[in-house]
Amino acid sequence: MKPSKSVFVCQECGAQAPKWTGRCADCGAWNSLVEERPAADNALAGKAENRYGQFGAGSNAKLYAEVENANAARLTTGIGEFDRVLGGGVVPGSLVLLGGEPGIGKSTLLLQAAGHFAREAGPVLYASGEESEHQIKSRGDRLGIGAAPLYLLSETCIERILEEIARLKPALVVIDSIQTVFSIKFQSAPGSIGQVREAATQFLFAAKGQNIPTVLVGHVTKDGSLAGPKVLEHVVDTVLYFEGERHHSHRVVRAVKNRFGAVSELGVFEMTGSGLRPVPNPSKLFLSERATGTPGSAVLCSVEGSRPILVEVQALVSTSTYGNARRMAIGIDQNRLSLLLAVLEKRAGLSLAGDDVYVNIAGGMSIEEPAADRSVAAAVASSVRNRGLSPATAVFGEIGLSGEIRGIPQAPLRIREAVQMGFTRIVMPAANVDPADESAGGAELVGVRTVGEALDALI
Ligand code: TYD
Ligand code: MG
Repeated sequence: MKPSKSVFVCQECGAQAPKWTGRCADCGAWNSLVEERPAADNALAGKAENRYGQFGAGSNAKLYAEVENANAARLTTGIGEFDRVLGGGVVPGSLVLLGGEPGIGKSTLLLQAAGHFAREAGPVLYASGEESEHQIKSRGDRLGIGAAPLYLLSETCIERILEEIARLKPALVVIDSIQTVFSIKFQSAPGSIGQVREAATQFLFAAKGQNIPTVLVGHVTKDGSLAGPKVLEHVVDTVLYFEGERHHSHRVVRAVKNRFGAVSELGVFEMTGSGLRPVPNPSKLFLSERATGTPGSAVLCSVEGSRPILVEVQALVSTSTYGNARRMAIGIDQNRLSLLLAVLEKRAGLSLAGDDVYVNIAGGMSIEEPAADRSVAAAVASSVRNRGLSPATAVFGEIGLSGEIRGIPQAPLRIREAVQMGFTRIVMPAANVDPADESAGGAELVGVRTVGEALDALI
């Protein structure tokens, strides 16, 4: 007899339907529906219930105080910036997803990390479904990976990879990429939702069961749409995203989820002829090409995760020739820019109607925190008045709709970084000025309350 409640799941988008149809009603994909049985009817159900059993002693509830602290030492990848985004190194048994656009440098970073790791901590299995062993080796030679117990496996079948993991018992496993592997239990093509999810689950059990940290590579396209990383985010322990502009040499790895550390932690790298080079002092990199004293440039002290970074905000205001004034933002949110321009116009008396406004974060960085408001406003006003800011001045602070400057978190961290980079005057929210704070060193802290006040203090 047919099982009573089977569902048909679209392998492209994950939508469910009670009946098989040739075309998914949700995403419109053809022939993508596959029958799946609910857990109770599933032959695997008995096993599935116990799959998590291997993590702990059993399925009985345990008293909090009696649970042993599994605070195992973190393993370093040998790349300081990579360890930093992971929250201080790789946690044994953790599953990490490294997402990013094709060609951004995921394989390069992981091969470098695998090389270091193999030398320091033990054998590493690098399974690639995208490149042959020869290709990986020739890249590795360029990256300077010498003699190390690094095993390469050019394989796309999950079951084969798991066999190799069981045989080699490596200290780290890298799967490049999750979209190319497939399980023989499923008929759908590699990269489809069902396959990607199954692969991640199998690697999760392998990682937890044998306590082997595993890194999965996932490709995402510009709009983040490719099947994979999005559906995987809840399965893995840590999600890292590789960001960067193709035309800039620096790359940023950002943690967007981390069960073992702070999120929005940042690692900065530079792509060179011999692989990715960590950048321990990103402020220096982002300010290196700053033209000091030119109108339309302001230095912002931003904080990403636990790390302060100074970046240059550039603005160009010019008379619009096409009737329709253009407002363009690169590196900050477009809506945020519109809001700031409205506040500047209404509360600071800056006339911007009929002007084109372009704002850019130099170096291809993108900033999301509202602390950037003040520096955007300063750069725009500086461009309008055609007067440069003093080169030794840095700014930060959020702007409210009524033109007030609001306090922001982690002010001492920002001040310390600015002082270290040689800034002597910091214009900041009055609420954040703490006379007892020693992070300022000899720098002058100027507390401001309104946009008008802030612009007077700057330009
Ligand atoms: P890769 O790691 O293959 O990208 P992904 O795995 O994310 O698809 O990175 C490839 C890019 O990096 C390629 O455009 C060339 C560049 N690159 C260098 O500039 N220097 C190097 O030493 C290496 C290995 C790659
Ligand atoms: Mg690759």
